[in-house]
Amino acid sequence: MAGTDKMERRSARLLREMFLSYFEEHGCRRYMSFPLVPDDPTLMFTVAGMVPFKPYFLGLRAPEVTRATTAQKCIRTNDIENVGRTARHHTFFEMLGNFSFGDYFKKEIIPWAWTFLTERVGLDPDRLYATIYLDDDEAHDMWRSLVGLPEERVYRLGEDDNFWAAGPTGPCGPCSEIIYDQGPEFSCGSPDCGVGCSCDRYLEIWNLVFMQFSRDEEGKLTPLPKKNIDTGMGLERLSSVVQRVKGDFETDLFKPLIDRACRMADIRYGDSKKGDLSVRVISDHLRASAFMIADGVLPSNDGPGYVLRRLIRRSVRYGRLIGVDRAFLTELLPVVSEIMSDPYNELIEHRSAIEQIIALEEERFGRTLEQGMAILDDELVKVRHASGANLSGEVAFLLYDTFGFPLELTEEIASESGLQVTRDEFDREMDRQKERARASSKQAGAVMSKNVYTELADTLGATRFDAYETVAESAEVLAIIKEDSPVDVLSEGEEALVALSRTPFYAERGGQVGDTGTLSGRGVRFDVIDTLYPSGGLIVHKGRLAEGSLKVGMTVEAVIDVARRDAIRRHHTATHLLHEALCRILGPHVRQAGSLVTPEFLRFDYNHFTALAPEQIAEVERLVYAQVLADMPVTTSVMSYVEARKLGVKALFEEKYGDVVRVLDIPGFSTELCGGTHVLATGQIGLVKITKEEGIGSGVRRIFASCGESALAAFQESSFILRALCETMEVDAESLVPRAGALIEGNRELERKNQELVLAGMIESARETVNKAIRVDGLLLVAEKFKGASRDILRKIGDRIKQIEPDSIVLLAGIEDDGVSLIGMASEEAVRRGVHAGNLVREISAMMGGSGGGKPAMGQGGSKDSSRMAEILASAGDIVNAQLKK
Ligand code: ALA
Repeated sequence: MAGTDKMERRSARLLREMFLSYFEEHGCRRYMSFPLVPDDPTLMFTVAGMVPFKPYFLGLRAPEVTRATTAQKCIRTNDIENVGRTARHHTFFEMLGNFSFGDYFKKEIIPWAWTFLTERVGLDPDRLYATIYLDDDEAHDMWRSLVGLPEERVYRLGEDDNFWAAGPTGPCGPCSEIIYDQGPEFSCGSPDCGVGCSCDRYLEIWNLVFMQFSRDEEGKLTPLPKKNIDTGMGLERLSSVVQRVKGDFETDLFKPLIDRACRMADIRYGDSKKGDLSVRVISDHLRASAFMIADGVLPSNDGPGYVLRRLIRRSVRYGRLIGVDRAFLTELLPVVSEIMSDPYNELIEHRSAIEQIIALEEERFGRTLEQGMAILDDELVKVRHASGANLSGEVAFLLYDTFGFPLELTEEIASESGLQVTRDEFDREMDRQKERARASSKQAGAVMSKNVYTELADTLGATRFDAYETVAESAEVLAIIKEDSPVDVLSEGEEALVALSRTPFYAERGGQVGDTGTLSGRGVRFDVIDTLYPSGGLIVHKGRLAEGSLKVGMTVEAVIDVARRDAIRRHHTATHLLHEALCRILGPHVRQAGSLVTPEFLRFDYNHFTALAPEQIAEVERLVYAQVLADMPVTTSVMSYVEARKLGVKALFEEKYGDVVRVLDIPGFSTELCGGTHVLATGQIGLVKITKEEGIGSGVRRIFASCGESALAAFQESSFILRALCETMEVDAESLVPRAGALIEGNRELERKNQELVLAGMIESARETVNKAIRVDGLLLVAEKFKGASRDILRKIGDRIKQIEPDSIVLLAGIEDDGVSLIGMASEEAVRRGVHAGNLVREISAMMGGSGGGKPAMGQGGSKDSSRMAEILASAGDIVNAQLKK
């Protein structure tokens, strides 16, 4: 091969930077990488650099610039099984991209790309080829005339190679790829090996997409409003070419990680296929996992979280394959961080969350992996002997459900033995389990059946809702529901639900409780104790008629309890502050899982994996309170849902939002979708105090907090308690803790002393006991009961008796609240003569309805029943007598 090779071996970090600054020179705005999980319902992960720009390509939104460039974090999962088996498959990778939104097109990008690779990076031009889409003569001519590529180095390929789309629908277009010839030593050796061959010789390094169409669900292509450019070059691949190594895993993006993994397993890279495969899988997956967690993904059983779970669990299994039997993943994390944290600072920022989440997931799977593997191995052997069969889906389901084996992992392990998992069976088991779960959950269906409220909602429509604007207004009574039936008139003292033509009352929704207040007219007063949405947009006021008679058609003055609403508003805005503070302090995985906003307290549930430490609670409180002190304006605006999502407004995944949403904004701190009522400025919230933190199920934590008056009340109450305590203990507050500690310690000491005294007393009475002993055929038998003596004390008393009378038989019963304990002891001489203390205790215990036993010299037993104690102990003489060898 001819040509000069003036390429320097540059680091991946430098290549990334060179690419971005090169396109900046061409007028592209440089963006930070967008998150791995896109705001796009058609994609689970960001699979290419163009994903975050989709709305621009589709013309849904005017771009802020017409030229952009990124190094985008991407995840592709379609080829997980191949990761580690080849030199180039990855889950996580970085795509160097540049984009034109209706601005530059083919005639610019083709020479720019060429110049970057040949002049900036220094790739040998004689090793480069271009492919184009079949009939793209325009691209062909540009490669020929603008770049000067000879005819024989421009290849026309079909749809599979040279037409690109991010998914089944959306923007797409013909493309042109730049190929680098790595040389014959990389060839698969096939006589047909050439440009387009999938082996490692002719590497596709850069894809230039001429984004001109949008594909709809039926597959129809519609031209886009403008002609765009989307390009993508894998940083891993570029680095491997520039660094002249055999594959991506040998580049500086992976090598330190591979080395560290090898050292950990005490193997050498290149020594064995299994070893190489394992350390590559681990390196790839750990890198991907760290980045996913940094972008807020938590292990779970579906969606992106399931992919994360699979990656971590797959890594653990590959660790076992190379003999690493302990938790090891977090040991490797610092290396990921060393390689990637410049420029991806999120790895540092969320280091602790990444570490903890990976450690927890590894620990969970590590606990069941061996058991699961044992079952799976057994099953594989069985099935292999029953030739030709598949691995049963039931076993795969058991492994999934009980041992945490992702189905794909079981499939992969089975395939290593040449077997497949029967998917139908697995799916059937999964359906059955879901059915069981449904059946055991509450019968919600019945409540939802058509009732008086759905009918009312149908006839009256949504109630006009004025809660954001006013606290009092006149309204017409449209319906009165008493005991589930509509009535025209309500009499004094009766309870009912009232629908009005309009209302200032906030009806319970989005966690905020309903308002209370009054509906009054001439001589009429209805006390509202709650406001609800029983169906659709219909609002009803629940309460009791305190005065007069209320009639349909009447006009009433609807007035809410303003002080209570104010307290609710404080707690609601505080909930938003708390949510944001938790995200900032704990990490991006924090998501709201539920909330309740009342006038007295707020309750907030969120996804997190461990309890908050007291210092973290204090930190959250400080961050929230700083926002209160800053007295920021709290504003709401109404916009389309799409618009809000584009602005990055927090929304709840599981919540259904209409097309038009309300966005609550606390400038510089939090923006969230919300339909609740809020304070006008954060200063109105007053003190916010977290009062309790607890776990409510796997991965969900719950926080209680109080604001304003109730925070003051809580604070006053604890101050009162504190003062009372100080008075009782006769110290000031600072000395309270040491004083209480000293008291408790003193108390323990007293208890111990008391025990000693009790014991001494009992031991003293041992002598009296001996005096009451009887002789059985010349042997001394001491049988006695002690109130309040534990087995321990009995043993001490027994030892004491044996000191006084070494040659004796002892049977002692201790009576405590929960029953009787028994011990028996027999001297050597007694044993020689046939006495068996264990049997003696067994018989006595049995007579009391309990059990016992032991050896000839020593036995113990007990019973719950301590009645007839004296009588039973008295029979010990007869038992011993029977035992003696005559
Ligand atoms: N979006 C194009 C790709 O992923 C550049 O190949």
